[in-house]
Amino acid sequence: MRDCREICLFICVLSILPLVCFSANFVPTDNYLIDCGSPTNTPIDSRNFTADSFYKNFLSTQQDIVASTSLKSITSTSDSPLYSTARIFTAPSKYTFPINKKGRHWIRLYFFPFAYEKYNLSAAKFAVSTQNYNLLSDFSVQKNPVMKEYSLNVTSDTLVITFSPSDNSIAFVNAIEVVSVPDDLIIDDANTLNPAGSYSGLFAQALETVFRVNMGGPTISSGSDTLQRTWVPDEKFLIQPNLARNFTNIGAVKYVDGGPTENTAPPSVYGTLTQMNSADDPRSNFNVTWQFDVEPQFQYLVRLHFCDIISKSLNELYFNVYINSWFVAKDLDLSTINNNILAAPFFKDMITAPSASTKIFISIGPSTVNSNYPNAILNGLEIMKMNNSVSSLSSSTAVPLSSTSGSGSKKVGLIVGVSVGAFLAVVIVGVFFFLLCRKRKRLEKEGHSKTWVPLSINDGTSHTMGSKYSNATTGSAASNFGYRFPFVTVQEATNNFDESWVIGIGGFGKVYKGELNDGTKVAVKRGNPRSQQGLAEFRTEIEMLSQFRHRHLVSLIGYCDERNEMILIYEYMEKGTLKSHLYGSGFPSLSWKERLEICIGAARGLHYLHTGYAKAVIHRDVKSANILLDENLMAKVADFGLSKTGPEIDQTHVSTAVKGSFGYLDPEYFRRQQLTEKSDVYSFGVVLFEVLCARPVIDPTLPREMVNLAEWSMKLQKRGQLEQIIDPTLAGKIRPDSLRKFGETAEKCLADFGVDRPSMGDVLWNLEYALQLQEAVVQGDPEENSTNMIGELSPQVNNFNHEVSVSAAQFEATSLDDLSGVSMSRVFSQLVKSEGR
Ligand SMILES: *[C@@H]1O[C@H](CO)[C@@H](O)[C@H](O)[C@H]1NC(C)=O
Ligand SMILES: *[C@@H]1O[C@H](CO)[C@@H](O)[C@H](O)[C@H]1NC(C)=O
Ligand SMILES: *[C@@H]1O[C@H](CO)[C@@H](O)[C@H](O)[C@H]1NC(C)=O
Ligand SMILES: *[C@@H]1O[C@H](CO)[C@@H](O)[C@H](O)[C@H]1NC(C)=O
Ligand SMILES: *[C@@H]1O[C@H](CO)[C@@H](O)[C@H](O)[C@H]1NC(C)=O
Ligand SMILES: *[C@@H]1O[C@H](CO)[C@@H](O)[C@H](O)[C@H]1NC(C)=O
Repeated sequence: MRDCREICLFICVLSILPLVCFSANFVPTDNYLIDCGSPTNTPIDSRNFTADSFYKNFLSTQQDIVASTSLKSITSTSDSPLYSTARIFTAPSKYTFPINKKGRHWIRLYFFPFAYEKYNLSAAKFAVSTQNYNLLSDFSVQKNPVMKEYSLNVTSDTLVITFSPSDNSIAFVNAIEVVSVPDDLIIDDANTLNPAGSYSGLFAQALETVFRVNMGGPTISSGSDTLQRTWVPDEKFLIQPNLARNFTNIGAVKYVDGGPTENTAPPSVYGTLTQMNSADDPRSNFNVTWQFDVEPQFQYLVRLHFCDIISKSLNELYFNVYINSWFVAKDLDLSTINNNILAAPFFKDMITAPSASTKIFISIGPSTVNSNYPNAILNGLEIMKMNNSVSSLSSSTAVPLSSTSGSGSKKVGLIVGVSVGAFLAVVIVGVFFFLLCRKRKRLEKEGHSKTWVPLSINDGTSHTMGSKYSNATTGSAASNFGYRFPFVTVQEATNNFDESWVIGIGGFGKVYKGELNDGTKVAVKRGNPRSQQGLAEFRTEIEMLSQFRHRHLVSLIGYCDERNEMILIYEYMEKGTLKSHLYGSGFPSLSWKERLEICIGAARGLHYLHTGYAKAVIHRDVKSANILLDENLMAKVADFGLSKTGPEIDQTHVSTAVKGSFGYLDPEYFRRQQLTEKSDVYSFGVVLFEVLCARPVIDPTLPREMVNLAEWSMKLQKRGQLEQIIDPTLAGKIRPDSLRKFGETAEKCLADFGVDRPSMGDVLWNLEYALQLQEAVVQGDPEENSTNMIGELSPQVNNFNHEVSVSAAQFEATSLDDLSGVSMSRVFSQLVKSEGR
C-alpha cells in the first residue's frame, strides 16, 4: 500500500499522470504527523508519525520536557501507540507549521493523561489556539484517551498552534496532525434551518468534529478512510432502536461525476444505512430519531449522507428528513437527484441556529406521497461545531444567545415548505429550564441553609400562636394582617384536608377550600414539606403579601409553619381562576366587557406591584391561572411565590434562575436572565390574547404554527387578521375599535425587547380606553372619535416606544382610583360623554 502511494506520489511530482493519482487516493500537500515526546517513528495504519525530534525546530518552548508511560494503562485502539509519550509545557509554547498549500487543514490533537515524574497530566489544565481561532480553553483530560479533530482554512504561510497552561497548571499533548483537506470537502455554502434559507461563509469557519456516524454499519477506523476519519455506529444514538433496521449493500454504491467522492465518505458509509423497521406494513407511520448531546449556544454544521441502496427502481422511495423538528427535506426522492442514477451518494449540509438546547435530534420518517410502502433512510451523519462570533470553539467562551437566530446567515430563499414549529422551542425551553432549576436548587442548598425565622408580621410584636385568632370574632379575613395559625385550626378548617375540598393543584401543592370557625371562607394552600424550593417560595409569598395590600392583589390571612408544614391561608375567591372562565371548565362564557374589566383589575394589581411601593416588585409568574375572581368577578392577582423585588434591592438585576410558566415566559428574560417589570408586561400580554381567544397558551393538539398562542396571535395581529381567532362566543360582539385597541395593546406587550414594551400603567390606560370604546357602542354612539381626544389627554395612551415613568397625572388618576374607589371608567365616561355633546 505504501509502495503504491510512493509510486503514485512520484508520478505526481513528475506531472506525468496526475489524474491516476488523484482518482485513487487524496495525497495531502501538507502532512505533518508528530508523535510528541517519542524517540522513534510510530507507524499508524499506513501513516508514519515521526519522532518528536524530527520537527523539533517547529517548536518553541521554555523547557524541553518529554514524558512517557508504559502502554499497559491505555485501552487499546489503533492509535494507542501515540498515547504512550507526550510533550509537557509549563509555559505558553507554540508549534509553527509552514503551510505549502493554503486552504482547509485537519488539526488533530491527541491527549492521554498519565503521571510522569513530578507531572500529573490528569491535573493539567490549558488552552489551545491558532493565530485566528481558540480551539480549547480550560481543557483537561481525566482518564481516557481523547482525540480532538478540527478543520480550518489556513490563509497564511504558517499555522501556529499555541498551548497555554492555565494558572499554575501545565499543558501537554501526545500527538499532533496538521494535514491538508481536499478543497471541495467543505464548500462555502450550506442551508440554514431556522429560518430556512441559504448560508455562505463556511470558508471562514473553524469546525470541530463532534460526531461522525456510519448509519447501519460498523465502526470505520481511520485506516479505512481516505481522509483518516473515524466513523462510529449509530445504534447508541437511536432513541428507539426497535423502530430502526439496518441494511448493507456496499457493492451497490455508484459514485458519479460531479457528486460526492470517496473523500466525502467511503463506500463503507454510503453502502450501509438505517431505515424504518416497518415490517413492510403499509400503515407504518413513525419517525426514526437519533439524539446527540451538544454544547448549547454554538451553531452546528450537520452533514447528512444519503445513498438509496434499497430501491429496486426509480421514484420508489420518498421520505422526510428533520433536524429538531425542522424540515431538512420533504418528500425527498434520491433517485431524481443524480441524473436518475439509483444508489448515487448524496449529501446535504444544514446549519443549525445557536440555541440553548443541549441536544440535536435527527429524524427520518415516511412521506405522505409514497407510492410504495412507507420507508425512510439515512446512511451517514457528521455534526461539526462552528466557531462563534469571537472565533472560539470553546464552551468557556460561549457567546450568550442574541435576539436573532443564525447570526451571519443570509436568508435568501426557502428550500422547502417549512412550517414554523413550537415543539422545539418547548423542548429547548424545557431542557434549559431544567438545568437552570437544578442550578438554582444547588445554589439554594448552599446559600440558604440558614434557618428561617418566621416573620414578625403583626407590628413587630411577637405573637403567640393563634392568640389573635382565638378572639376569632374580631380577627378574621377582614384583618389586614397575616397570622400564624396552629396546625389543628387549619385541620379543622379544611375538614382535615379533605380531598373532596381540593379546589386546585399547583406546583407548590394542593389548594383546599376551608372555613374558619367565624364563618370566613378561606383558601388553604398546603405546600409539599420536603421541597427546598417550596420553602423559599413560601417565605417570599408571606413577605410579599404581608407588605402589599391592594384591592387587586389576593390577600393573605395567615400561615402555618408548625410541624414543617408550609401552609398559606388566603381570602377565598369564589369564582376561581380567570383561566377556568376562559376554557375547559364549562363555566358560562364571559362577556367582552367582563373580560376587559377583569384585565383592567389585574393590570391595576400589577401596576401597583411595579410602582406602588418604594421598590418595584416583579411578579414573575403572571398567567390566567394566577388571576383570581371574587363573587363579583373582580380580579385579583395571586401567587407571589416567585416574585422578586426589582432594581432597588437587586442592583445587578440578574436573577439566578429563569422562572415562570411555559407560554408566558418573556423571551428576553429567558435569553438574558435579566429581570425587569417588563417581563411581567410580556406575560400579561399573553394573558390578554388568552382572554381574547379563550384557548390555552400552548396547545400541542393544534397545527404546528398555532401551538403557541403568543406566536400565532402576534402573527395574525401583525397581518391585521386578529378577528379570525377571537373566541367564537364573542364574534360580532366586540366593537372593532375596541378590538383594535386591545390587539395593539397586547401586541406592544409582546414586543421582543423590554424597552419597547409599555409600562403596566400604560397598559392599564389602554385597556380602560378599550373598555370605553366598547361601551360607546352600547351607548349607541358609533361616530365617536374620542380616540384623538383621549390621546391628547394622556400621552401614555399612544406612546409605547420608550419607557415612560409614571407621570403625575397618571399616578394621580391611579391613586385616586385605588384610594377613593372612583373608577377610571367613570372618568373616561365623562370624557366621552362631554365629547359627544
Ligand atoms: C517516517 O518519516 C520520517 C520522516 O519523514 C522518515 O525519516 C522515516 O524514514 C519514515 N519511516 C517510515 C517507516 O516510513
Ligand atoms: C492527578 O490529578 C488528578 C486530578 O487532579 C487526581 O485525581 C489524581 O489523584 C492525581 N494523581 C496523582 C498521582 O497525583
Ligand atoms: C479559504 O479562504 C480563502 C479566503 O477566504 C478562500 O478564498 C478559499 O477558497 C478558502 N478555501 C477553502 C478550502 O475553504
Ligand atoms: C444490523 O442488524 C442486525 C440484526 O438486527 C444486528 O445483529 C447487527 O449488529 C446490525 N449491524 C450493525 C452494523 O448495526
Ligand atoms: C416526525 O417528526 C416530525 C418532526 O418532529 C413531526 O413533525 C412528524 O409529525 C413526525 N412524524 C411522525 C409520523 O411521528
Ligand atoms: C467564525 O470566525 C470567523 C473568523 O474569525 C468569522 O468570520 C465568523 O463569523 C465566525 N463564525 C460565526 C458563526 O460567528
